[in-house]
Amino acid sequence: MDSELELALHWLSQANHVAVLTGAGISAESGIPTFRGPDSRWRGCLPEQLASPEAFKHNPRLVWEWYDWRRGLIAGSAPNPGHYALAALEAQLSDFTLITQNVDGLHARAGSQQILCLHGDIWTLACTACGWSGRNESPQIRPLPPSCTCGAILRPGVVWFGESLPSDVWSQALQAAQRAEVFLVVGTSAVVMPAASLASLAQQHGAKVIEVNNQATRLSSQVDVVLRGSASEILPRLAAGLRSKL
Ligand code: OAD
Repeated sequence: MDSELELALHWLSQANHVAVLTGAGISAESGIPTFRGPDSRWRGCLPEQLASPEAFKHNPRLVWEWYDWRRGLIAGSAPNPGHYALAALEAQLSDFTLITQNVDGLHARAGSQQILCLHGDIWTLACTACGWSGRNESPQIRPLPPSCTCGAILRPGVVWFGESLPSDVWSQALQAAQRAEVFLVVGTSAVVMPAASLASLAQQHGAKVIEVNNQATRLSSQVDVVLRGSASEILPRLAAGLRSKL
């Protein structure tokens, strides 16, 4: 692990353009369950059974109860050393783009500035009819499902399975992946497209790809180096190591 870490630090210290893709694993140690981990079921349902337009159409109250539970968990959580280390890396590097699949807002709370939220933001609400959207940071919205002033049901401002990513955010993520000399993939199973394709795209454009994950993923055999362990332990080592090299 020390030699892999040294190699990663060497690449980072030489790079002008760095991009990072994060997933639910980085927030696991903040107490937010991942999507495909052992604690991902809620009332017996898998996230895939809840995070879809079909599920919402069929039972908006159930889907909202799940988001209500997640909003409560997130409101009671705090960024962990992994989130803070990415904010520290951003402060040390001139071109650093943080791309996240997470909707929990913990990167921003840790001080990261340039964040591309591919899958939206759990604290945003959007009307299913009139197009209104706005922030609501109340950990408990009542009644469920909430309604817009136009009378239609509000939905969480997140991207569901089968929906397109916000096009401006996605095009910025593509650009960041293509110009990255180093691309970090942190705490994601890399099974959800198109986010998972960014690592391969970066590699095709010449980036060294570094995976930080406590388990093997479908990317592990393709990346240039694997740093096996928890994001909250490895990312602070990367940030501290880079500080001593720059
Ligand atoms: P997953 O739950 O699929 O994967 C979490 C990954 O984090 C796994 O590879 C774990 O091994 C890893 N992991 C867990 N704890 C970790 C830790 N402490 N340190 C490092 N790694 C750790 O979550 P995502 O890959 O984020 O999309 O899932 C991608 C998307 O699928 C989500 O954004 C969401 C979901 O369904 C939508 O809702 C559209």
